[in-house]
Amino acid sequence: MTPPLIPIGPDNDNLDQIRHDIGDCKRCRLCEGRNRIVFGSGNGQARLVFVGEGPGADEDAQGMPFVGRAGQLLTQMIDGTAAKEGLAIRRGDVYIANVVKCRPPENRTPLPDEMEICGQFLFRQLMVIRPKAIVCLGATAAKALLGLKEGITRIRGQWHTWRDIQVMPTYHPSYLLRPYNQNAKREAWEDLKKALHYVYD
Ligand code: URA
Repeated sequence: MTPPLIPIGPDNDNLDQIRHDIGDCKRCRLCEGRNRIVFGSGNGQARLVFVGEGPGADEDAQGMPFVGRAGQLLTQMIDGTAAKEGLAIRRGDVYIANVVKCRPPENRTPLPDEMEICGQFLFRQLMVIRPKAIVCLGATAAKALLGLKEGITRIRGQWHTWRDIQVMPTYHPSYLLRPYNQNAKREAWEDLKKALHYVYD
């Protein structure tokens, strides 16, 4: 018999409570450069959740995840792949969050302590939503959830598990925006297709 999962948040945890607990967060140095905390957006009862790394300049200005160039590509990927696969799913049907909720300076990769401090809120979000699957966008999200040291190229496209939830790591949309990564783009589309069919078939 599988042992029960140790709770991460309080009893009857919910997204409003988590946002309330984050408050005007000063738990790590990322608060110094941020304009807004980017909590997450989308359907709070989504069956599929996407996890990115952290807000960029556009997200920091608007307080919403994935609204810049990478976000536009992510929207296209979700809406376009679902439509092509005959699934009535759009970006608004899923939930999107990041490992860290404040923009790192110069968009640097979040440091381990920042990921650990902020990760507790991401984990609570995931436990509250309890999606059927999570797509990790890039190595930072994969590291936060799976603790793997391998590069994203090695682990992408295969199912992993976080707690009892299926996790599909794939490339980060920012990486796919670089013109020499067109092969990766095809692979990311395949990964997303796999995740969408697993969740919505
Ligand atoms: N990149 C991320 O990882 N997250 C965002 O919200 C935007 C860009």
